[in-house]
Amino acid sequence: MHDVVAAELLKLNQRLLDSIAGADWPTYQSLCDATLTCFEPEALGQLVEGMEFHRFYFQLPAAATPCTTTMASPHVRVMGDVAVLSYVRLNQRVLGDGSPVTRAVEETRVWQKRNGVWKHVHFHRSVPAE
Ligand code: GLY
Repeated sequence: MHDVVAAELLKLNQRLLDSIAGADWPTYQSLCDATLTCFEPEALGQLVEGMEFHRFYFQLPAAATPCTTTMASPHVRVMGDVAVLSYVRLNQRVLGDGSPVTRAVEETRVWQKRNGVWKHVHFHRSVPAE
């Protein structure tokens, strides 16, 4: 049972990451709770709550440039109706000069099941130390 739930959550989380890579705001919004909280480098150390901060990035002209997103060594901890996913996110994209580049970031994402539906409620992203 745990494996089934973990697989479902990994699929949902991959969908979330793909929606970011594809600048697909409707999908991203549908997977997130409206009160989503986060710590991410873009927020400069502040805890951000809500969706508007994130919408900004989906509206950028370059937001939908091709990008492949991989969750490396994902770990899933299910605690009833709450789950924590931890992994290193690898983003592959092509720069303006045609050269491919990979960026790695550490992510923890929290999901909560409400009324039978998993919603993304919190995440923390940091850049690995060099
Ligand atoms: N900045 C949006 C996200 O990583 O979920």
